[in-house]
Amino acid sequence: MDPSIAVVGPGAIGTTVAAALHEVGRTPRICGRTARERLELHGEAVRIAVPGPVRIDPARAGGAVDLVFLAVKSTQVEAAAPWLAALCGADTVVCVLQNGVEQESTVSPYTSGARVLPAVVWFPAEAQPDGSVRLRGEPRLTLPDGTASHVVLDALRGTRCSTDVAADFTSVAWRKLLQNAVAGLMVLTGRRSGMFARTDIAELSLAYLRECLAVARAEGAVLGDEVPHEIVDGFRSYPADMGTSILADRVADRPLEWNTRNGVVPRRGRAHGIPTPISDLLVPLLAAASDGPG
Ligand SMILES: NC(=O)c1ccc[n+]([C@@H]2O[C@H](COP(=O)([O-])OP(=O)(O)OC[C@H]3O[C@@H](n4cnc5c(N)ncnc54)[C@H](OP(=O)(O)O)[C@@H]3O)[C@@H](O)[C@H]2O)c1
Repeated sequence: MDPSIAVVGPGAIGTTVAAALHEVGRTPRICGRTARERLELHGEAVRIAVPGPVRIDPARAGGAVDLVFLAVKSTQVEAAAPWLAALCGADTVVCVLQNGVEQESTVSPYTSGARVLPAVVWFPAEAQPDGSVRLRGEPRLTLPDGTASHVVLDALRGTRCSTDVAADFTSVAWRKLLQNAVAGLMVLTGRRSGMFARTDIAELSLAYLRECLAVARAEGAVLGDEVPHEIVDGFRSYPADMGTSILADRVADRPLEWNTRNGVVPRRGRAHGIPTPISDLLVPLLAAASDGPG
């Protein structure tokens, strides 16, 4: 029997996963903040409408489900907590589709004991002003190896959202975190990937990434000395106008995921006694850009 599934946070990532499930007949319950009749996903050779309506009242969540995909931004977890309370039973798995490395500790307080499973999200998607979502790549998730992952693998089997399991999930998640952390520099310049062509920005990025790498290794990630160069070379190879979601949030004056993408590095660094002088400069600037005051 197919598992019962809910998607909480039907934005760019949530809509993509909901559409992939609907396409194979496993239409999830959709729980959001903005009322909509349906979700719409479009992209190269794909156009899927997921029937709604989007539920916006947790009191009408409809009871516990087997699997929740939580796809709100990390800044929105607390506000989405009533959905988790309504949808989680003892056997529910909550798969968190968010950037960062702290999903279990930040989401578990709201799941009444239900298991929390982080996932690394590999595809770019953008919510459009009309609420539809533009998919810009092949949907793909990486999950940790473990029993809870099987619920997600079964739910997404045969869908356009491919899944793989990483034996060393910690390393995969920190590798992605390093990439997200350095992308945060775009918020401070208001520039896109083209800025990494500058020698001074490339040098700053490498120094910052080496600092992040030291913390990642202390957290158990197995990542080589070549990783900072690979990440900077990656940004240099992108089209100059390629942005990042944290820059898009800044431009739209929305709260930034600075704490989960950048603040985590000095926080975990302190726990290990690792100095993080570059983070100590960058993180307050990102926090202030996000949260003010002023
Ligand atoms: N987009 C990407 O390409 C991408 C790639 C990799 C990783 N990620 C990560 O994936 C996560 C989700 O990002 P996203 O881009 O999908 O964000 P998003 O487009 O802003 O989607 C968030 C959704 O959550 C909804 N929401 C907000 N508060 C809520 C609440 N209290 N209850 C229920 N729903 C609520 C929002 O509703 P409204 O419509 O009312 O705002 C929106 O539909 C982030 O951690 C992001 O860093 C994103």
